[in-house]
Amino acid sequence: MNKITVVGAGNVGATVANVIAHKDLAREVVLVDIKEGLAEGKALDIWQSSSINMFSTRVTGVTNDYLKTKGSGVVVITSGLPRKPGMSRDDLIKTNAKIVKDVTEKVVKYSPDAIIIIVSNPLDVMTYCAYLASNKPHEKVFGMAGVLDTGRYRAFIASALDVSPKDILSLSLGGHGDTMVPLPRYTTVNGIPIDELLDQDEIHKIVERTRFGGGELVNLMGTSAWYAPGAAAAQMVEAIVDDQKRIFPVCAYLNGEYGLKDIYMGVPVKLGKNGVAEVFELKLNKEESKMLQDSGKSVKSVMKVLDDMKLFK
Ligand code: NAI
Ligand code: 2OP
Repeated sequence: MNKITVVGAGNVGATVANVIAHKDLAREVVLVDIKEGLAEGKALDIWQSSSINMFSTRVTGVTNDYLKTKGSGVVVITSGLPRKPGMSRDDLIKTNAKIVKDVTEKVVKYSPDAIIIIVSNPLDVMTYCAYLASNKPHEKVFGMAGVLDTGRYRAFIASALDVSPKDILSLSLGGHGDTMVPLPRYTTVNGIPIDELLDQDEIHKIVERTRFGGGELVNLMGTSAWYAPGAAAAQMVEAIVDDQKRIFPVCAYLNGEYGLKDIYMGVPVKLGKNGVAEVFELKLNKEESKMLQDSGKSVKSVMKVLDDMKLFK
C-alpha cells in the first residue's frame, strides 16, 4: 500500500504507526496530531529505528496538516482522551465525539476511498459517529476492540495452561465494555475445547478478568493500555493491506444480524482489502444470546448520549 494515516500520535497511535512500520505494510505512514511537534517527533523517532529494525516504511509526522494524508488507503483514528482511574469508557463521549467527527471529516476530504478503523473510546459509539461523519458505506468504517479483547483473553488462558498464546483460538462478541461477551464455547487450544483443559470456575475467572481487562491496566498505569491495542489495530491493517480475509471480532455495523439493527458492535467478520466482506452470525445459546442483547442495550444507551449531542442534524 502506498500510504497509511494514523490520527492521534499519543500512546496508541504511535504504537500503531510503529508496528505498521515494523511490518513494512506501506511505503509511508503519516502520523497526525493536534499537539504541535508531537507527531513529528514520534515519527522521527520511529523512522530512526528503521535501519536498526530493518524496515523501509517511511514514517512522517504532521501537526493537523491533512493535505499530507492525501490518498491514504487505510486511516486509523486514535485521537481523543484516554480513560483515567475511576472513569468508564463511556465517560469520554462528550469530548471524543467532537474530535472523532472533526477528524473523520478531514480524513475523508483528502482520502475519500480510505478504509477507516476507529480506536477512540467509547469504541462502539465512536465508530458509529465516524460512520455518520464519513458518509461512507459501513463496510469501510469499523472499529478495533475484539482483537484486543480476545488478545487479553487468549493471553490469560495461555498463562493458566502454560502453553503458547499462538495456539489459543477464540471469539468475543458485543460492545467494548464490561458487557462484552467472551465465548468459552468457541474457545479451543489448537482444536481442544477449553472446557476439557480448564474447569468452569477457572474459565469464569478468566472471562471476568477479560471483561475488566482495560480497567485493570488503567488502575495500574493511571491511563489506558497501548501495546496490545496498537498491535491489534495494526493486525487489522495488515489483513486489509494484504487482503488476507482473516476472521476477526470487529466492531461492525449490524443491520438485523443477531436481532440488532442500526448499531455498531463486536461480531466475527471476514476482513480484506474492501473492509468487512462478511458478518458471521453464530448460533448462540440462550445465555450467550441474553448477554449479547444486554450488551446491545448498553451500547444503545451510549448512542443516545451521542444523539442528544445533536452533532448530526
Ligand atoms: P493519548 O492521550 O496518549 O493520545 C491521544 C492523542 O490524540 C493525543 O496525542 C492528542 O493530542 C490527540 N488528539 C486529541 N484531539 C485531536 C485532534 N482533534 N486531532 C488529532 N489529534 C488529536 O491517548 P491513547 O492512550 O493513545 O488513547 C487514544 C484513544 O484510544 C482513547 O480514546 C482511548 O480510550 C482509546 N483506546 C481504545 C482502545 C480500544 O480497544 N478500542 C484501546 C486503548 C485505547
Ligand atoms: C482498553 O480496553 C481502555 O479501551 C481501552 O484498554
